[in-house]
Amino acid sequence: MNDETYIPCPRGILSEAVMLLTLSYVSVARRPVHSKELAELAEKYRRNNARNDITGMLLYHDLRFMQVIEGPMSNIRTLFENIKSDPLHDQILKIFEDPIQNREFLNWSLGVVNGSSLGLEDQTLLNRFLEDAGAQPTTPGLAGQGSRMLRHFRNAML
Ligand SMILES: Cc1cc2nc3c(=O)[nH]c(=O)nc-3n(C[C@H](O)[C@H](O)[C@H](O)COP(=O)(O)O)c2cc1C
Repeated sequence: MNDETYIPCPRGILSEAVMLLTLSYVSVARRPVHSKELAELAEKYRRNNARNDITGMLLYHDLRFMQVIEGPMSNIRTLFENIKSDPLHDQILKIFEDPIQNREFLNWSLGVVNGSSLGLEDQTLLNRFLEDAGAQPTTPGLAGQGSRMLRHFRNAML
């Protein structure tokens, strides 16, 4: 090895780079959210997320929310703290929180899926997942199921 092939890696370079995090949860709305209100809320959330370099998707069906947010770690942690104390919902249950290299929802500051506009098959799929996750939060493989669900709805929206 000569001097040119040796590329030094400064200590601490990893901690200086922006670490991306993906986080998903399910929750229960404390009152019904109709499509017009959901669209208005999403508009506001989108503006905030764009400002904070956050991307993701929000699903709502039959009083239940599921959301995935991805972005710089500290922005995700701050947003999740805000979301947890939002009076619009409770019974918030984190499904996963993982470091990522690449975003899954790259161009979406917040994609929104309103369950009532889905076909019957997708409504059933979503309902089953949301109810099971809420009822049995410790189910093994819940995180994997959750990411598959989110990917399914992302692909359906593309
Ligand atoms: C289900 C749910 C999802 C939310 N998602 C987001 C979001 O993606 N981005 C966001 O900024 N706020 C979101 N919020 C709202 C936050 O809880 C909080 O009200 C908001 O970040 C405060 O923004 P403001 O300081 O501009 O008023 C969500 C709230 C709920 C109930």
